[in-house]
Amino acid sequence: MSDRIPLKIIKIPALGGTPILGFAVRVHAAMLEEGWADATTAMVYHNTRAVVAMIEVGEPVGIITYDYVEHARNVNIGLGYVIADYRRRGIYKMMWSVLCEEARMLGAARVFSMVHAKNIAMLKVCSALDRRVESHNIVFDL
Ligand SMILES: CC(C)(COP(=O)(O)OP(=O)(O)OC[C@H]1O[C@@H](n2cnc3c(N)ncnc32)[C@H](O)[C@@H]1OP(=O)(O)O)[C@@H](O)C(=O)NCCC(=O)NCCS
Repeated sequence: MSDRIPLKIIKIPALGGTPILGFAVRVHAAMLEEGWADATTAMVYHNTRAVVAMIEVGEPVGIITYDYVEHARNVNIGLGYVIADYRRRGIYKMMWSVLCEEARMLGAARVFSMVHAKNIAMLKVCSALDRRVESHNIVFDL
């Protein structure tokens, strides 16, 4: 797109002790407000890994958090978020590319993520990035 902005994508091996930890917590809160996260599940831990998009002034505008499960060779994504004013400029796509690079370096064989069935934007992002739907969660409300 024409309005792409200069960005730095950084890799964080553990959020604890970094200023990005606070950003990740705010992102979780924003995702709860937007209806894309589960209020009963903690998403950010001291040792959570992340890929972060920073604008030139050193401010984070996007994040993908993840864990690596070595015995299963799985990278599991937790949060995926870009601040509303910065969406549709390819920022998630850039973070995804760095995440895949990092996942390969770790020895992962696949990257897993969960997407709400109503999150059409994220489903479109996934399909644009060749991520395939492998399963559906089935719920019966009592
Ligand atoms: C989903 C989200 C992370 C996408 O971030 P983004 O930086 O805007 O995504 P990108 O610009 O990298 O988009 C990459 C491609 O995905 C597709 N895409 C992205 N957003 C889309 C939308 N709203 N509708 C349709 N397609 C979309 C497009 O093909 C896009 O490429 P293009 O702009 O060149 O056509 C962002 O909208 C967001 O933070 N949403 C709220 C949080 C959320 O839903 N997180 C995921 C929870 S599982």
